[in-house]
Amino acid sequence: MCGIIGYTGMEDSVPYLLGGLRALEYRGYDSAGIAACGKDGITTVKTRGRIDALEEKINSSSCKIEGHCGIGHTRWATHGAPSDVNSHPHRAENLALVHNGIIENYHEIEETLRAEGYDFVSDTDTERAAKLIDHCFKKLGDPIKAIFEATEIIRGSYALGVIFDAHPGKIFAIRKDSPLIVAKGKDGCFIASDIPAILAHTKDYYQLSEGVVALIESDKVSFFDKNINPTEQKLLHVDFDVEKAQKGGFPHFMIKEINEEPEAIRKTVSSRISERSLPFFGVDMLDGEGISKFKNIHIVACGTAMHAGLIGKNIIERLARVPVNVDIASEFRYRDPILGKDDLVILLSQSGETADTLAALRHAKSKGVYTLSIVNVIGSSVARESDSVLYTLAGPEISVASTKAYSVQCALLYLFAIRLAYSLGKISEDEAKALCNSLLHDVPVYIEDTLKLSDEIKSAASEYLDFEHLFFIGRGIDSALCTEASLKLKEISYIHSEAYAAGELKHGTISLISEGTPVIAIMTSSSLAEKMISGIREVKSRGAKVLAITTKEIAENYTIPSEEIITVGCTDELFAPFAVTTCFQMFAYFVSALRGNDVDKPRNLAKSVTVE
Ligand code: AGP
Repeated sequence: MCGIIGYTGMEDSVPYLLGGLRALEYRGYDSAGIAACGKDGITTVKTRGRIDALEEKINSSSCKIEGHCGIGHTRWATHGAPSDVNSHPHRAENLALVHNGIIENYHEIEETLRAEGYDFVSDTDTERAAKLIDHCFKKLGDPIKAIFEATEIIRGSYALGVIFDAHPGKIFAIRKDSPLIVAKGKDGCFIASDIPAILAHTKDYYQLSEGVVALIESDKVSFFDKNINPTEQKLLHVDFDVEKAQKGGFPHFMIKEINEEPEAIRKTVSSRISERSLPFFGVDMLDGEGISKFKNIHIVACGTAMHAGLIGKNIIERLARVPVNVDIASEFRYRDPILGKDDLVILLSQSGETADTLAALRHAKSKGVYTLSIVNVIGSSVARESDSVLYTLAGPEISVASTKAYSVQCALLYLFAIRLAYSLGKISEDEAKALCNSLLHDVPVYIEDTLKLSDEIKSAASEYLDFEHLFFIGRGIDSALCTEASLKLKEISYIHSEAYAAGELKHGTISLISEGTPVIAIMTSSSLAEKMISGIREVKSRGAKVLAITTKEIAENYTIPSEEIITVGCTDELFAPFAVTTCFQMFAYFVSALRGNDVDKPRNLAKSVTVE
């Protein structure tokens, strides 16, 4: 989604703005721009395309932009096609503004402003917001009052950074639904959409609360409520250093983040296990007897997070025998879900800013249902608005394709399943401790053993570069794994693939199997091995080329008739999904990298989809 950066300090703002925008590139964008307060007022430079194109424009002889205070923006188009004029910052008579979000009533705002003599040069909702604040500023003469008055009128989501010609050196910011942080560095003060944009300057930041205006000056940041009274904001600290947010020696963020999975799981799981080796969430409703009151569980998420929900469904129903329904967040509230007082809604979200998931959360809360979120970004909207939150400790996930965040979401869902099963008496204390121990100590090793198969997986991947279509088949929890394996391959390699329950193929889709059609069979369940083998035979008899991803136990006890077999590092079937996940993530990564794709920033995709 859109990225915002702002800097004011003793140095020229342009390098800070460009550096911050580059750190936000992973959010996905189609245009970029900056504005700075110079001695003759605000200058703005913006362009369609990448930040390199913006830098080229800034350095061109026709352009002169400088100033110690400025704002910058990378735009992911929602209103108006990608173009120079639709890029941010947007100018009004007295100010320049950048925005992340969607303003729903921008047509009404436009009509009101046209009646006041305003005209518009772009198709964007943001320009309407800029001129609305400008209109309020002309009336009130005060930037903070103007921002509060304008945002009383605006409906929708926004993170706004604003600079005024009459207030050089100052940045004003406000947010609703979209993320925005404020920080004080050694060379000046910042606003940004996300932490990587400020990491080179400071590890301390404020997650700006909604309904608060931040005033950022060169040596201090202050916050004001809507009565213009000073208010406090909680200072947060990240332990991500710049190194961690960079690639750490790997060619891409994605492969770096896959290699971080063992550590991410150890950190996430150990933070949720008590000294008695039992799950402990630090949430009364989950740690006390309250958890056993939940009769129906709804897991709601998007994309990869929703696929983690499918894994959660399998493991919760298997261990705790409580029914679990998995919903695509963008469908959830439109199907008027049947939610009872003893239901639990679990929201999964790496970014914690996905608009569809946030909307589903709000719908569940409006029905009085208890909401638990599992989120990777501290202080994000989903985390703040749910009744309780379990943070995954995967660290920053920069690659657009989610990998380690998916794995740790699954790990927390396993832990939740163990806790629920134990509280319901479905498993004994010793069984619960043993499962926690496996999750904490064995799973990271299974993943590390699978990471060692890198060359074998890369070699297998190299045989799939030229296919246009590919099938993943599996049964039981492996069918759920196939959904994520298929999405991972599609979104970064651009090869079309389909995940199919192996038993369902013969009911139609097998007609698509012809000579050489690639099929990847995921087999972690011994009890289903024979069925999977007959499924492999079925597709092979129609010419398919089959790669099996399986466990040592199955490989040693069954003759799998596939052309190729990758045996993942795992000796416990219940936890095999973690090792298989690392395997298919690496497979997708190598196919994409070997095809020469922009692995970390796949076309058309954004890291956090903050629009519905
Ligand atoms: C990740 O690989 C996908 N690109 C995407 O489906 C993502 O999982 C989805 O947009 C949900 O994002 P969230 O976890 O930040 O809510």
